[in-house]
Amino acid sequence: MQFQLNEEQLMIQRAARDFAQQQCLPGVIDRDEHQKFPLEQISQLADLGFMGMMVDPLYGGSGLDTMSYVLAMEEISKVDASVSVCMSVNNSLVCWGLDQYGSEAQKQQYLAPLARGKKDGQLYIGAFLLSEPEAGSDATSQRTTAEDKGDYYLLNGIKNWITNGSSASVYLVIAQTDRSMGSHGINVFIVEKNWPGVTVGAKENKMGIRGSDTHSISFNDVRVPKENRIGEEGFGFKFAMKTLAGGRIGIASQALGIASGALELSLQYAKQRKAFGKEIMNHQAIQFKLADMATRVEAARLLCLKAAWEKDNGMDYTLSSSMAKVFASEAAMWVSTEAVQVHGGYGYVKEYHVERLMRDAKITQIYEGTSEVQRIVIGRGVLK
Ligand code: CAA
Ligand code: FAD
Repeated sequence: MQFQLNEEQLMIQRAARDFAQQQCLPGVIDRDEHQKFPLEQISQLADLGFMGMMVDPLYGGSGLDTMSYVLAMEEISKVDASVSVCMSVNNSLVCWGLDQYGSEAQKQQYLAPLARGKKDGQLYIGAFLLSEPEAGSDATSQRTTAEDKGDYYLLNGIKNWITNGSSASVYLVIAQTDRSMGSHGINVFIVEKNWPGVTVGAKENKMGIRGSDTHSISFNDVRVPKENRIGEEGFGFKFAMKTLAGGRIGIASQALGIASGALELSLQYAKQRKAFGKEIMNHQAIQFKLADMATRVEAARLLCLKAAWEKDNGMDYTLSSSMAKVFASEAAMWVSTEAVQVHGGYGYVKEYHVERLMRDAKITQIYEGTSEVQRIVIGRGVLK
């Protein structure tokens, strides 16, 4: 068993850390407070090759492994989870799905600019549209319909909670074509945001990841060319599940980053802050908290890297990605809450960052499958 990162992985980790500290940290409180989409940061990430990290350079990507992606996600999430969720959706849901299952023409037309994150010098990113007002965890209950009209599909319905909803140019939309076929009657389509009949709803006013743009998207008689369906007829639900298995490694790494960011801030603070004549790190109650926080962060990191390693080595990673996601997200919530406690009253105000990390942690237990959904996947897996 090898616990050492290679040179390339260490280089990516350093680059991501520098980027997070130099480009994401300035203004992060303001972006959170005023719900500003981190346009400049995402554009810089695209220039660094971080928007299509695992895609072959032939299609505009960086050709890196999933381990490197986990390391980059952790570093960026330590500082700004609104930046990292945008990066995660583009990398592991949109680019990976197209890379694995797209046709050559779809890859040339859509994957290449999405992996670069730019087209004609402008930001060009994607979004993944599965959830609906009445189909969240119960994802097979799709109400959005795609009626087969011969050489095109007619798309109607509404999608909810879409990350990158207004900043994306391309949507991967999951919709029901034949209800009688259940999950086998679901398809996935590449839809461009500027096509007639596509409407972006109002931005959600959220508890955390407030810089990320979350919108509902509605489709009213949108004509989708047949060649924009990904994969065989009826492949849409499997596409969503397989893509989400990888996506969950991304969100687990985001949760890991939130937890390790909260731990780093707490360690620094505990060394400086004095109470009862000594630094608070010298009070055993605080030291034990830090010990428990560090242990959970390390366990979350190992689960994330193991899931990534399995993916890189062509193994089935469905179970370990769900384990990484449920564990890391619960660690993020617990560690960030303890970080506020370590900071005392200062932890409760914005300047010290930990209150934001605590608010941001919560979403990692909800999106890309709630903790309950991960336990369903794990339960079925271990009982198989
Ligand atoms: N790989 C391949 N196929 C899979 C699969 C997988 N990982 N998981 C399920 N399937 C297949 C099943 O084998 C089955 O096919 P067959 O009939 O041929 O056997 C079919 O899909 C239906 O599967 P289930 O019977 O298991 O479906 P279910 O109704 O019991 O639901 C579920 C299972 C795990 C709860 C699933 O609905 C689920 O994951 N729900 C959560 C949805 C989710 O994660 N949404 C995230 C939206 S994106 C997002 O959130 C992005 C963001 O925030 C940033
Ligand atoms: P519900 O499914 O209604 O669940 C409510 C509660 O019941 C949860 O606690 C859940 O775990 C529990 N529950 C439901 N079924 C079961 C069961 N069988 N057993 C035990 N407990 C159960 N979706 C996208 O498609 N694309 C995106 O980009 C995207 N981005 C998002 C960004 C944000 C900020 C948010 C808040 C959501 C986003 N989502 C996105 C949607 C997200 O994936 C869903 O919110 C999530 O899957 C849960 O669905 P729901 O909200 O409908 O909750």
